[in-house]
Amino acid sequence: MAKLSFDSTQFTLRTSQFGRQKIDYQAAMDIPYVADPVDSIQKLNIFVPAGYFAGATINGYQRDTAPILMPNTVGGYMPGPRDDPENTQWPTNAKTIIAALAHGYVVISAGLRGRTQTDAQGQFIGKAPAFIVDMKAAVRYVKANADRIPGDVDCIVTNGTSAGGATSALMGASGNAAYFEPALAALGAAQASDDIFAVSAYCPIHNLEHADMAYEWEFNGLNDWYRQKMAMSDGKMTFTPWQGTLTVEQQQLSTTLKADFITYLNGLHLTAENGQPLTLDDQGNGSFKDLMRDYLMAAGQRAVDAGVDVHKYAGFTVSDGQVADLDVTAYLTSLTRMKAVPAFDDLALSSPETSLFGDETTPAKHFTAFAQAHTQVSAALAPAELIAAVNPVTYLSETQSTRSIAPHWRIRHGAADRDTAFAIPMILATLLKNRGLDVDFALPWDTPHSGDYDLDQLFAWIDRLCQ
Ligand code: DHB
Repeated sequence: MAKLSFDSTQFTLRTSQFGRQKIDYQAAMDIPYVADPVDSIQKLNIFVPAGYFAGATINGYQRDTAPILMPNTVGGYMPGPRDDPENTQWPTNAKTIIAALAHGYVVISAGLRGRTQTDAQGQFIGKAPAFIVDMKAAVRYVKANADRIPGDVDCIVTNGTSAGGATSALMGASGNAAYFEPALAALGAAQASDDIFAVSAYCPIHNLEHADMAYEWEFNGLNDWYRQKMAMSDGKMTFTPWQGTLTVEQQQLSTTLKADFITYLNGLHLTAENGQPLTLDDQGNGSFKDLMRDYLMAAGQRAVDAGVDVHKYAGFTVSDGQVADLDVTAYLTSLTRMKAVPAFDDLALSSPETSLFGDETTPAKHFTAFAQAHTQVSAALAPAELIAAVNPVTYLSETQSTRSIAPHWRIRHGAADRDTAFAIPMILATLLKNRGLDVDFALPWDTPHSGDYDLDQLFAWIDRLCQ
């Protein structure tokens, strides 16, 4: 444990450019956050506005009252290395870190293992649940060192985008969950809790075992798909167009998955803010779909109010500056489908998610009985407890809970995001609301799969909670 005591003499003064402003901050770099790491990625960087070391008040915060923002760099469930305001190599949220420092936050960036990592023997070391175990271990380290690290450990806010948004959401939902204790103990994690105060999640790619069905509920009937193939070259992502049309067999699978989603959704017993049940009929229509239309119409209305022409997408009826109606099918048709069927639990085990659910010696596994039944390759099904444990929704569906769920949530999923269905963040937000938690959820207009695009609003939200 002594090994995990933070040595605050290691802070050194650095300066980064924030627009035309220079931001001075103290940085403590490359700090191991577990006693028995399995990989060098398991280290974190701490950044503190320099003024706090001279007793300054910044934006109403002081050294020990400043919120602690913990952004991750996880994308595609790949390794998410610790980040740095001067980092220019993908993946990085350097701009977020600098903006947060300028705003008076303490920023702690922990490196998290990802699905492609192997050790010297060639064994995989970053398959699920490694990403969340590492994030929990990092939070435990920060809490165990509360007296030595500036910032308020009662105001830890995690942030991430896509798979990183899922990581953030899972942190909020699974605070102190028993499932992860053995893995945390094996790493020699610090003795502390890992529940957090607030979640910021952009387009969280989560609820993976229900994401295929949700995708077909949304896109069934749209048979052409369009996406970009991503590749890494010299620290930069490159994108090449990739498209296709669903086969007849895929179209049939789509129809089955759509029906499965209706059963799943109705089984969640969600309710709207007015207390009415959120359900779907046999055709996939009903109050839950109406809620989706409401969220999209609200996105359109904000665009209209900002002087933006919403007819970039089909389906909107606008009169006298009011979005009066939305034909959801027309909207989705103009948005287009991105992924083939199944969208996540790919039948050839070639998706990032099947890779996430591999194990030490298995590159990829299925994580739905549906894909296992229809697989095109020799494949195993990942353990049910593991699949459930890395899904934030699991914890929110439990009626009794002895764990700690974050009380505050800000979830953003672009109205032009096709990486997962709108239903997925909607279910998350609704379950949280139905538990009486504080949820700020919206679909920002014409926003594709991305994050950190509204930092002023994110920081205003954090300030309302922490100042
Ligand atoms: C991410 C995007 C995806 O479409 C997906 O299936 C998994 C992860 C991402 O950007 O992290």
